[in-house]
Amino acid sequence: MRTIEMHDGVVKMVDQRKLPRQLEMVECRDYRAVAHAIKDMTIRGAPAIGAAAAFGLALAARESCAASRDELLRDLDAAEKILRATRPTAVNLMWALDRMMKFARAQNAGVGDLRDALASEAQRIADEDVETNRKMAQFGAALIDDGDTIIHHCNTGPLATVDIGTALGCIIQAHRDGKKIHVLVDETRPRLQGARLTAWELQQYGVPMTLIADNASGYYLRKGLAQKCFVGADRVAANGDVANKIGTYKLAVVAKENGAPFYAVMPTTTIDMTLADGDAIPIEERDAREVTHIEGMQIAPDGVRVGNPAFDVTPHKYITALVTERGIVRAPFKENLLRLMDAAD
Ligand code: MRU
Repeated sequence: MRTIEMHDGVVKMVDQRKLPRQLEMVECRDYRAVAHAIKDMTIRGAPAIGAAAAFGLALAARESCAASRDELLRDLDAAEKILRATRPTAVNLMWALDRMMKFARAQNAGVGDLRDALASEAQRIADEDVETNRKMAQFGAALIDDGDTIIHHCNTGPLATVDIGTALGCIIQAHRDGKKIHVLVDETRPRLQGARLTAWELQQYGVPMTLIADNASGYYLRKGLAQKCFVGADRVAANGDVANKIGTYKLAVVAKENGAPFYAVMPTTTIDMTLADGDAIPIEERDAREVTHIEGMQIAPDGVRVGNPAFDVTPHKYITALVTERGIVRAPFKENLLRLMDAAD
């Protein structure tokens, strides 16, 4: 089952807010519903957000009443702005929208053909994501040794992508390759993507794991009970700094302190060569309620002041390697990323 698909003008996605209690699909019949689903994290994870935005734009083309190509492009521009404003950090969102708009403008077609072409292009983006993840899983699994215990943060599995996943894809692949591994799953406060989604996914694949509170990772690393860390990324700057789920930075620092390699896994579509370093990456600040409440239950006093950055930036000096579908990138990251991205172009 894919996290997101489109058939006959309906986008269906797994409702990630309901897992692990219920596995339900949500149907979006217009682009505003897709934008809402990205914003409220019905669908989340950088590559899945990118695919959702592409399908959203395909729906926008379908629902437009435009009589000419130019009118349709105007309607697409308006929809694109709404989709783009949903979440600021995961650059896959902007990448997918840019690709769809560039594709639309390049088509010299009538309204009907342009609508069909955009649906096909969105489908291509989704299909490519699966293929990309398959390649990353192979590269990343090679970094995992028999007997490793790996700390994983947030959710980077099939649910965070169209299928397979990024960092968790590598871990699942290593398990499939017959390596005896164990995963320490960070619960990932405040939204508990680790506890709710990663633990559930690893159970589906039969990968041995232990769920831990985020604060426990230092304990395991210092005692030598974990050998490696694997995380995903929402945006990587040109110098190799990685923006990922809040708490990633703290984990990377403790990993380095204890000599544990720290790997970040992402498709090249997550690499933003326009930003010189991680300080330029926009960080999403989310609703205070995500911190003051758990599953609707209030856990903090009324009126308490809350900070809720959804991501942090890990400077590249803490990162052992970046794993992409084009191979593994090590320091010096700036030079090696430039080479990798030039080759990708
Ligand atoms: O806020 P989320 O759940 O969308 O954040 C997801 C992450 O931070 C993942 O680690 C990241 O998107 C990479 S996963 C493919």
